[in-house]
Amino acid sequence: MRYQGIIFDLDGVICSTDEYHYRAWKALADRLHVPFDRARNNLLRGVSRLASLDIILEKADRSYTKEEKAALAEEKNGLYRRLLADMGPDALSEDVSSTLRALRETDLKLAIGSSSKNTPFILRQIGLEGFFDAVADGNCITHSKPHPEVFLQAAAMLGLPPEQCLVVEDAHAGVEAAAAGGFDCAAMGDAKDDERASWHLNAFSDLLACL
Ligand code: BG6
Ligand code: MG
Repeated sequence: MRYQGIIFDLDGVICSTDEYHYRAWKALADRLHVPFDRARNNLLRGVSRLASLDIILEKADRSYTKEEKAALAEEKNGLYRRLLADMGPDALSEDVSSTLRALRETDLKLAIGSSSKNTPFILRQIGLEGFFDAVADGNCITHSKPHPEVFLQAAAMLGLPPEQCLVVEDAHAGVEAAAAGGFDCAAMGDAKDDERASWHLNAFSDLLACL
């Protein structure tokens, strides 16, 4: 096999929580009368909660204090968590589910590398708690993507050097983070055509052909 380990982004790769992020940010932006649409939402992929809020507020007609921003981020997270609460194992597509099962049958080590502080909650909701050999997430990093910290941490937890791991990403910020950390990257979704990626996936299961 070309790689010893795979590090998956979570939102928009394993499950479609990226759609819930959009809906929660959209509700907040509408309340604040700040223009926000799906094109701007794509700028938030892979980016931390507070950095995402800063990007949204670039279009606001007033400035916000640090305290106000903390409250707005909390409000968005409350909306988002309510959407996550209704999500169950059926939120995993058949394509993702069968591919993960096939990968688990190999010797490859599997990890999550996500900017999200909600990662443990999401993994529990979709029935993947304990499935991965390592989970590096927003709770254990100081720099969000495009910084490579979360992927470097996941690789270290797997006991593998970056060049032996493949990162799977749907965010340009994530593809950039993978490249900065010395990882090969398989890009999909919004980032599929990113030229910094080594592989371009039309479907999650296309991953099996990259190994
Ligand atoms: C990333 C998402 O996985 O996590 C971003 O792509 C999100 O859109 C980030 O902002 C942080 O998520 P959370 O759950 O900590 O607010
Ligand atoms: Mg993502």
